[in-house]
Amino acid sequence: MDKKVIIDCDPGHDDAMGIILAASGVSNLQIEAITTVAGNVDVEKNTKNALKICDLAGLHDVPVAMGTNRPLIRESLEAAHVHGKSGLDGTGLPEESVKKAADRHAVDVLIEKVMASDGDITLVPIGPLTNVAMAMRKEPRIIPKISEVALMGGGTYGNRTPAAEFNIYADAEAAQIVFASGAPITMFGLDVTHQALAKPDKLEELTVIDNPAAAAVAEMIRFYSGAYKGNFAGAALHDPCPIAYLIDPAIFELKQARVDVETKGEFTYGMTVVDFKGSTGRPPNVRFASRLDQDRFWQLFLDALRSY
Ligand code: RIB
Ligand code: CA
Repeated sequence: MDKKVIIDCDPGHDDAMGIILAASGVSNLQIEAITTVAGNVDVEKNTKNALKICDLAGLHDVPVAMGTNRPLIRESLEAAHVHGKSGLDGTGLPEESVKKAADRHAVDVLIEKVMASDGDITLVPIGPLTNVAMAMRKEPRIIPKISEVALMGGGTYGNRTPAAEFNIYADAEAAQIVFASGAPITMFGLDVTHQALAKPDKLEELTVIDNPAAAAVAEMIRFYSGAYKGNFAGAALHDPCPIAYLIDPAIFELKQARVDVETKGEFTYGMTVVDFKGSTGRPPNVRFASRLDQDRFWQLFLDALRSY
């Protein structure tokens, strides 16, 4: 039975790989919509990149709706030093996409799709949570109708600051709205996404897959690895993690946790404060992905690319 998803993203190389995985022949996901949000680069560029990825992945009938171009409260933040000025540098994708964006705002598409559903749509935010938070505020009735929120963000440590991971740090107020919403959240933070490293041997296996999607992903990994050189054995495939979980949950180990987002701390703004022991007295609100079966993850990812 296909699982309905809406992917909210800021492509971004790893977002692009997540979408390619979700659209592949090994995926049981039915992509209802792709919504874009300001994050890695501005929302216009992220939307342009999402449309190019849809062309590459054959997602001709999936609506792509552009969302918010700035966080709720804080000043805008980007990660062009990781993804390049375009947000998807280093790939030979055409300058212009064939596919055009929908003429609806992402927040309205999120609300419309969830409200019209039977409560069977999973939201997959893999960028800052601004759109999802705005949708929850604009139409709170979506919250009980959201089947699950499988998000990439946060962790017990940070990558943009020592305390905060980029997707949360880019809009901590939005993140706290989502984490406190009561929606069922499965969280893929740095603790697990830093186990999904595109090491040279994996890149080797990938480069022998002879199709345009695999070739584009190889280019993406080569470019994106630059930000990880010297600190990691390969580029971290953050955003494919929640997608892989939705296709094959057995890849991940999950544990209950209470997670709240710091929005006031001078040094800790954007920190996901993770309580595994119930010491806060607040009920668990997250299933926290702590471990990934690397062989199973890479088998899925490579099989996905072979399926194009
Ligand atoms: O910290 C990693 C996250 O920030 C990923 O989603 C990446 O695409 C960037 O958005
Ligand atoms: Ca992202």
